[in-house]
Amino acid sequence: MAIEDWIRCPDCGGELRTAPREPRTGETRHFTCSGCDREIPEVDGVIDFLPGVSGPRGPLQRLMEWEPLVRIYEGKAWRSSPFFAWTAQIRLEEEISLVAHIVDAGPARTVLDLACGPGLFARRLALGESDREVVGLDVAWPMLLRASALAREQRLENLTYLHGDAHALPFREASLDAANCCGALHLFPDVRRVLGELHRVLRARGRISLGVFRRPAGLAGRLAADLGGLLGVHLFAEDELRALLVEAGFEPTVYRAQGLWMIAGGVRG
Ligand SMILES: C[S@@+](CC[C@H](N)C(=O)[O-])C[C@H]1O[C@@H](n2cnc3c(N)ncnc32)[C@H](O)[C@@H]1O
Repeated sequence: MAIEDWIRCPDCGGELRTAPREPRTGETRHFTCSGCDREIPEVDGVIDFLPGVSGPRGPLQRLMEWEPLVRIYEGKAWRSSPFFAWTAQIRLEEEISLVAHIVDAGPARTVLDLACGPGLFARRLALGESDREVVGLDVAWPMLLRASALAREQRLENLTYLHGDAHALPFREASLDAANCCGALHLFPDVRRVLGELHRVLRARGRISLGVFRRPAGLAGRLAADLGGLLGVHLFAEDELRALLVEAGFEPTVYRAQGLWMIAGGVRG
């Protein structure tokens, strides 16, 4: 499936087609909206729906856009660190395998990795799956440049990156089989809107997988939630996440809820 059959103009919802004009410097290709004529460039392998724009920024989000952090993000100093594994009570490889298992539980020809960062989940979901198209979307341009370079290194031709906002997904209705969103739901200013968008773009019985910061019960949970609040991170109680998923039209499953991390999923009703 070509990416043009998936994406739509975030302004007017119109169809996007690869435009016939010569690409400008740095562009790999570009798209034009058939509804409002908006031009959307692809630069360094990233289709840019938000030129010059970064996300709504709490302190943690600012960190996500800081080059030195982007470079080390996947490694032992951050996402693969023993500290992260201890906090989440799960090692990164196990988390990625669990997500792949949730995604593979049904048809998965079109898969979104929402808030993909440097693409650790997106690459795993694309690897060895030539019948599958994977799209990674993030609001942080430095993360996407890194993601695109890593995908090129691995020659993953079924993986495309988009610079966009989770609150206004540039995809057509019912165009996706599955979506993953790890490490980011707790950063979004309007979680209901993002879940609503995921519901809109998924097909009936499409699946989502989520990895989020969890709010444990008791005093420790209250302290962790207060600290999270200072960093712009919302910690979800298990019941709260289930209720949000139900409200958005998903049948929820919580796969793991340990330490400060929760891995949940939902099937679109
Ligand atoms: C902690 S990283 C998670 C990266 C990767 N998914 C992982 O699990 O390691 C959070 C990501 O969410 C992205 N993000 C935050 N707000 C966003 C938004 N409104 N739309 C899209 N991405 C967003 C950040 O830019 C960042 O790359």
